[in-house]
Amino acid sequence: MIDLQDVAHTLLRSGKGILADDETDVHADKWLAAHGIEGGEEMRRKFRNLFLAAPDNEKYLSGVILFEGTLTQKADDGTLFTELLAKKGILPGIKVDQGLEPFPEGGKETITKGLIGLPERLMEFRAKYGTGFAKWRAAITIEGTQLPTAQAIHENAKRLALYALEVQKAGMVPIVEPEVLLEGNHSRLRAREVVAETISAVISSLEDQGVDITGVILKTSMVLSGNKSGKMDTPEEVAEDTVGVLLENAPKDLAGIVFLSGGQSTEQATANLRAIEALAKEKNAPWPLTFSYARALQDEALTIWQGKDENIPAAREAFITRLKEDACFTLADSAC
Ligand code: 13P
Repeated sequence: MIDLQDVAHTLLRSGKGILADDETDVHADKWLAAHGIEGGEEMRRKFRNLFLAAPDNEKYLSGVILFEGTLTQKADDGTLFTELLAKKGILPGIKVDQGLEPFPEGGKETITKGLIGLPERLMEFRAKYGTGFAKWRAAITIEGTQLPTAQAIHENAKRLALYALEVQKAGMVPIVEPEVLLEGNHSRLRAREVVAETISAVISSLEDQGVDITGVILKTSMVLSGNKSGKMDTPEEVAEDTVGVLLENAPKDLAGIVFLSGGQSTEQATANLRAIEALAKEKNAPWPLTFSYARALQDEALTIWQGKDENIPAAREAFITRLKEDACFTLADSAC
C-alpha cells in the first residue's frame, strides 16, 4: 500500500522543486520554434535530454512532470528517461489531462478533457513507467467582471476532483492545477478575487468527491496583475496577495503547494518566489511551498542551446544555476 503523504512529502522536501517538462508535442514544437529550433520527434527527444540528463539536476529536483510521449523516449545513453530519473532519485510524474476545449462551444472559456479511460491509463503509467504522481491543468480566464463564469469554475473544479480521486485510487499523488491565466488587463486585486474563488471551489469539489486532501498537491498561479494591465507588480505585492489568498483559502492539511510560472519572465518568477517563500515563513504558513515551473526554468537554457550539441554544456549550466537559485528559497534557513 502506497503512503500518498510520504510520496507528497518526498516531492515537497526542502531545497527542491518540480520541473514541468510536460509540454505536448505541438506545444514543444511551438516553443522550440520560438527559439529558432526546428521541432520534430528527434529534436523533442534532444530537448528533453538537455534537461532530464543534465548532471546535478537531482540536487534541486524532487520530481519531473512528463508528457506521455516522453515515457517511451530514451536519453542519449539509451536509458529510458523514466529510468534515468529514477536512478537519480527524481520521481517521474505524468500529465494526464488531454488539453482544453471551449466551454461552452464557441465560448472564450475552456474545460479540460481527459477523464474517459483515465483509470486504465493511470494503471499503465504506474505499472510500466513507475510514475508516482500526476498532473491535470485547468485554465481559468479573466475578462473584466464577466469572466470567469461560475459555471466554468465549477465544472473545472469538479473535473479536477474526479481526476484527483482516480489518481489516488491508482496509488499516485495528484497535482491539482487550476491555472488562473495571466493574459488580460485585469488588476492584481481582481486576480486575487478569482484565485480565491477558484481555489475554494476546487477544495469544495475535492471534499465532495472524498479525495484525501493530505495526499494532494495544489499547483497555483501567483497573484499578478494581467499582462496587458501596464502594471508591473513588485515581488512584495505579489507575495502579500499570494500568501494572503492561500492562507485564506487553502486548507492547512493539504500536502503542499507549488507554483507555475505562467508566462512571467524567468527573473520575475525567481524574484516573486523568493518574496513568497520569505513571507510564508514569516507568517508560519502551514504547507511546504516550492516551484513547479516549465518556462521559467527552461527558457534561458533554450536560448543558449539553439538545438546545437556544442551548446549543451553552457545551456545546462544556465539551467542548473537557475534551479539552484529557485530551490534555495525553499530551505528553512535560506541565505540565498
Ligand atoms: P509554466 O511554468 O511555463 O507556466 O508551466 C507550468 C505548467 O505546468 C503549466 O501547466
